[in-house]
Amino acid sequence: DPPPPPGPPKFTGAKLVNDRAHPWRPLRAGDERGPCPGMNTLASHGYISRDGVATPAQIVTSVQEGFNMENNFAIFVTYLAHLMNGNLVTDLLSIGGKTRKTGPDPPPPAHAGGFNVHGTFEGDAGMTRADAFFGDNHSFNQTLFDKFVDFSNRYGDGYYNLTVAGELRFQRLQDSIATNPQFSFKNVRYFTAYGESAFPINFFVDGRRKDEKLDMASALSFFRDMRYPPDFFRPPMPMSNQGIAEIFFMHPFQPGGNADGKVNNFVVDPTSADFSNPCVLYDDILNTVKTLYPNPKGVLRRNLIKNLRYFYTSIPTVLGTDCGEQFPYGRK
Ligand code: HEM
Repeated sequence: DPPPPPGPPKFTGAKLVNDRAHPWRPLRAGDERGPCPGMNTLASHGYISRDGVATPAQIVTSVQEGFNMENNFAIFVTYLAHLMNGNLVTDLLSIGGKTRKTGPDPPPPAHAGGFNVHGTFEGDAGMTRADAFFGDNHSFNQTLFDKFVDFSNRYGDGYYNLTVAGELRFQRLQDSIATNPQFSFKNVRYFTAYGESAFPINFFVDGRRKDEKLDMASALSFFRDMRYPPDFFRPPMPMSNQGIAEIFFMHPFQPGGNADGKVNNFVVDPTSADFSNPCVLYDDILNTVKTLYPNPKGVLRRNLIKNLRYFYTSIPTVLGTDCGEQFPYGRK
């Protein structure tokens, strides 16, 4: 049975997380890594299995321990990823590509393809990963990191801070509008992109600092090398998406995408969730789940019910409103 998600840890202060119990090790053949520098780093330090395959409960524990991610926020992101891209029968999820290590596949159209699958969680206009249209949506991209550095120099005096985050987020959207005929930026991706722009400030800055700005050597260490800087301390309090309002309001941008497969043809999608309609996000996620699992049976159906339940427990805190729990597969 998939166990319930872990609760918050007892101690939630700063502490050394690049410690002797969690040494960084280089990749071995077959290890999975993907678009998330946070999870990649945790795997490369052994906070989850170094092969990059884990249960959702293990992922929640690891992000709390290794980065002090707030409990409800960790549950929201993890169970969302699991429902979109995990194997609900074996309770295993790959933080990178598809692998036999997650076990036998559920019936299609479900795919258990891991974080790298485009369009369910992973999406366009990332900071250091290219759009799926250009071929590789998950590897560290040096050209994009150069842009991250350039913006940090121009707007942050050599550091990544909230001002840089707001400018770079908007520029990455303009880049995709101008170059990706299949550019899409709505619902899950709309929310995650703003969160991820804040994450380097909230999670990658050493927990003993008070200045809320990230130096470029540390950024490179996380984004490219999947490695904590030497002597790294996690944040001094549980963190989530603090700062997204500031980032968003620097250049407000509505959800949508390039229409008709044409670049420079951005059209707003009024049916998408946005920050003033957060429960539409819950509806959209349920719709994706129902599309992936139109007619689940047996253990698969039971585990869908459980994982949807675990996911929902985080909604009132994370979306700031009780959207009303839905039961597309019944209650037990
Ligand atoms: C990006 C999943 C935790 C930092 C991503 C992406 C996925 C993902 C699928 C790719 C989205 C995209 O840009 O297209 C998850 C899951 C987590 C988690 C399921 C479980 C809690 C974390 C943590 C951190 C983090 C703890 C920071 C310590 C980031 C950043 C990006 C990202 C900065 C953006 C990368 C970029 O745009 O270049 N995450 N993540 N994530 N994640 Fe995570």
